[in-house]
Amino acid sequence: MKVGIINVTGYAGAELARILYQHPEVEIASVTGRSAAGQKLGDVFPHLSPLGLTITPDLEGSLDLVFSALPHKASAEAVIPVLEQGVKVVDISADFRLKQAAEYQMWYGVQHPAPSYLEEAVYGLTELHREDIRSARLVANPGCYPTSAILAMAPAVKLGLIEPDIIIDSKSGVSGAGRGLSLGAHFSEVNENVMAYALEGHRHLPEITQELGELAGKAPAVTFLTHLIPMTRGILSTCYAKLRDGAGGAKTSQRLQELYREFYADHPFVTVTGKPPQTKQTLGNNWCLLHPVVDTRTGRLIVISCIDNLVKGAAGQAVQNMNLMCGFPEDTALRALAVYP
Ligand SMILES: NC(=O)c1ccc[n+]([C@@H]2O[C@H](COP(=O)([O-])OP(=O)(O)OC[C@H]3O[C@@H](n4cnc5c(N)ncnc54)[C@H](OP(=O)(O)O)[C@@H]3O)[C@@H](O)[C@H]2O)c1
Repeated sequence: MKVGIINVTGYAGAELARILYQHPEVEIASVTGRSAAGQKLGDVFPHLSPLGLTITPDLEGSLDLVFSALPHKASAEAVIPVLEQGVKVVDISADFRLKQAAEYQMWYGVQHPAPSYLEEAVYGLTELHREDIRSARLVANPGCYPTSAILAMAPAVKLGLIEPDIIIDSKSGVSGAGRGLSLGAHFSEVNENVMAYALEGHRHLPEITQELGELAGKAPAVTFLTHLIPMTRGILSTCYAKLRDGAGGAKTSQRLQELYREFYADHPFVTVTGKPPQTKQTLGNNWCLLHPVVDTRTGRLIVISCIDNLVKGAAGQAVQNMNLMCGFPEDTALRALAVYP
């Protein structure tokens, strides 16, 4: 199968190329970039030299599926002509994640370039939408923070274990902000520093609320707070909610972990751990590690969730979606273990 990557020169695009190189059914036939157009991929990213590709300004040749790793708005504009040619698309940007164009405009500050595709697009969290993804021609790959948060809270919301008032406290490595240069991402600004940001509301909040609301039948109240921490990759989210009276019998951490394991039993990339997971345990792999516990002093559920923002939070999840859309085993090219230490 021939695939293309739009904007291979960002972090998500480069990570896609690295993962797809291992895919036995896929040939990366075309990769695009803007300022690096005309250069060899291996000259821009020496670790990708074995792919032997040249970056072009536009997609070339006949393709079966295209990934877009452009920033929002530019991404929708780039994938519309691809969709119109009947080619399947996995969009890693935020452009097709929200169902309402007005909500997109409110959070992203621009008019949606292709609102007619919003209804058709499938939110690409395979653990919630696997069957719809199989037949989709446009998949909206989830955001990195939402992947960690939704997977952490989905079982509790779906099983009715908690009150509809959730706090999600997330920490991310700096690659989450992309490869573009900005003062806030300089080594001397980030190193030995931790900061909270987007207290007025992070753009990933509406997709978290949308997906948890769909599971619950009504959108829960979600307080979502993000922090930048001095590491390259990884997200750790700590999520809190008050357990409902009775809470479906999930009053102990052991019972809660059993319910979470049952919920994700058919999903190869979510593991419920017996100890609190650490970001290093997901470094470079496609897993989401979850550890739900009951705080018996306060009657609260606490869930720790870890992912690699560039793998399960972006490129790995995109390949997982492609596998489903194309009828390959869901885990093809995604079984690599975490890099340690
Ligand atoms: N980073 C993550 O952890 C992550 C996770 C999930 C989803 N995403 C999403 O994935 C997409 C890519 O993110 P990223 O982090 O890989 O970005 P990135 O590393 O910041 O890549 C952005 C690069 O895209 C190029 N670019 C910017 N605007 C463009 C435009 N209008 N047309 C063509 N090229 C343009 C620029 O390269 P040149 O200046 O060389 O042209 C820029 O350096 C975004 O939509 C992001 O929200 C990222």
